[in-house]
Amino acid sequence: MSRSPYSPRLALTVAYTFYIALAAAVSSQEPLKLIEKSYVAGEAIPVSCLNRTIDTGEHITDEQGQLEYIPFPTCNETGRPLELHFGIEKEINCTIEFIDDAFFHLLEFYVHNDAPLTCRIPSRPLPSSILPSSSGTGTGTGTSPPVDEYTVSDESTKKGAMGTQSTLYTPLIMALAGTLQLSHLHISNALNLLVHAAPKAVAPGTIDAAAAYSVSAHTRQARVSIGDPLTLQFSVRWYPGTVLPSGWRGMGGHLYTSTIVYCLLSAGASAAICVAYFRGVELPRRLRRYARDKAYGGGGGGGYGLPVSNGGGYNGYGYGIGKRD
Ligand SMILES: *[C@@H]1O[C@H](CO)[C@@H](O)[C@H](O)[C@H]1NC(C)=O
Ligand SMILES: *[C@@H]1O[C@H](CO)[C@@H](O)[C@H](O)[C@H]1NC(C)=O
Ligand SMILES: *[C@@H]1O[C@H](CO)[C@@H](O)[C@H](O)[C@H]1NC(C)=O
Repeated sequence: MSRSPYSPRLALTVAYTFYIALAAAVSSQEPLKLIEKSYVAGEAIPVSCLNRTIDTGEHITDEQGQLEYIPFPTCNETGRPLELHFGIEKEINCTIEFIDDAFFHLLEFYVHNDAPLTCRIPSRPLPSSILPSSSGTGTGTGTSPPVDEYTVSDESTKKGAMGTQSTLYTPLIMALAGTLQLSHLHISNALNLLVHAAPKAVAPGTIDAAAAYSVSAHTRQARVSIGDPLTLQFSVRWYPGTVLPSGWRGMGGHLYTSTIVYCLLSAGASAAICVAYFRGVELPRRLRRYARDKAYGGGGGGGYGLPVSNGGGYNGYGYGIGKRD
């Protein structure tokens, strides 16, 4: 008796649970679809980088063996670690106000190619459940320091994603160039920073790839000693897919015609050289030989003729043959 009032509700609950389970199973091929967010245009994207020991430049791992990412140094211009903004192309100056001893040594490693400046950016906005105040949304105004980004990486790794392989992040290696001096460094501080968004049709508001590299490395340099400021000048460009557009204006046509013209010119030049060689060297040589042959031939003919006239045909003939050679 006591069962009957509950059975409909129970049945309903069971059915509902089954439905949820079924829905989950059906959508299991895209497991995170429901909780994954995507960037909106202009949304801030925090940059964090691998922490390294200043002795060897080796990366630092936590107790679980996970790589430790720390925020990019704070930029004087914004008072925050370096941030990109989704889809916004601009020049960003990031002045690191004080190069301390540790950072100076790390710069030496980067410039000397002992270790890359390995950074990363979240491919999508990090779930707010594990990031109370994402620097992107600006909801947590000053309540939490940027340190939260590290706890995020820890959380994400606990969820099964490993280190830089975490699908939550896109690597952003900064190929920083420069030269080592005895007392100071020259940092090639003008960098291009390219970001590829995933194609809209595939995953809107998502980052697919990113990279940064020094440009004009030998001419655009900042001299840095310990205690100096360092301004990194980033030229940020975004691409709406994974394919790089051809940047060389009129590349196809230019290349095509120039190649054709080059081929024609070189063909013409070699033909001209051949003609010049033939006319200037080979032809005169042949003419000389011909003339000589003709002259000797005449002599020979004379020699040939002389014995004939002398009547001693045999000797004269042999003489003529020998003279010819
Ligand atoms: C990076 O690692 C060093 C050495 O373990 C540590 O002293 C430093 O505090 C770390 N940096 C940050 C920002 O956590
Ligand atoms: C960045 O700094 C350079 C050199 O100080 C300056 O010429 C340039 O205008 C600055 N750019 C921005 C966007 O502040
Ligand atoms: C950093 O900013 C502060 C105030 O915003 C300014 O006083 C200081 O000179 C700046 N430092 C550098 C190295 O630009």
